Amino acid sequence: MAGGFDIVALIVAAGKGERAGGGLPKQYRPIGGKPMLAHAIQAFSRHPAIDRIQLVIGAGQEALCAEAMAASGAPPALFLPLVTGGATRRESVMRGLEAIGKARLVMIHDAARPFLPAVVIDRLVAALGGAEGAVPAIPVADTLARGGTELGEVVPRDGLVRVQTPQSFAFDTILAAHRAWPEELEATDDAQILRAAGHAVAIVAGDPALEKITFQEDVMTAEQRLGARMVTRVG
Ligand code: CTP
Ligand code: MG
Repeated sequence: MAGGFDIVALIVAAGKGERAGGGLPKQYRPIGGKPMLAHAIQAFSRHPAIDRIQLVIGAGQEALCAEAMAASGAPPALFLPLVTGGATRRESVMRGLEAIGKARLVMIHDAARPFLPAVVIDRLVAALGGAEGAVPAIPVADTLARGGTELGEVVPRDGLVRVQTPQSFAFDTILAAHRAWPEELEATDDAQILRAAGHAVAIVAGDPALEKITFQEDVMTAEQRLGARMVTRVG
């Protein structure tokens, strides 16, 4: 594409991983013998639609990030120069978008979602043919209810979905939407920022494997899942 990239994967990895604990931020904890971040990098780097990868990382984490980049096996030429993130996820995304500058599409992904099936990327690219934004989501299966010290009323789950990443957008549209978003407002994802700017966001089928790793036990479950897969492959 003249004067810019076609599809850029923007991976945000500048969080502190406070809920997962354990010293090292979760995105650098090993899963299946590689830092967590290496897995998402690998998924994007192996997908033919992805042109470049923009990583957004915490201040002073260049060495940890370099290790993850090397462990991913992705060719160095695939990476745009590293960007330092901000105090919130939204700020980290914004800095990444500003650094990319120009592209046709961007896929914004959490480093904390290491298992990214290629087919989800395919679905997102296809959906962006007819929409400014697309997200993977899965239906809510459990009963939802208000929590607290004791169980509260049930919240109807009809029509509710759990929204995952990569969230994918026409680049200029999401950049403009981010610039227009009020600084003081929190946003846990980018699709809500696109919607606030008046654009529709398509839904594609997500994947249970794409669950975000948030708590200490999620790190352990991920490690076990990969371990089991490796044993199956060898045996
Ligand atoms: N993230 C980021 N910059 C921030 C905060 C979060 O790039 N200032 C990234 C995280 O690295 C992660 C993704 O956004 O890949 C989703 O955030 P979350 O799961 O909340 O990770 P953390 O903020 O690191 O974890 P915690 O909230 O438990 O501290
Ligand atoms: Mg967080």
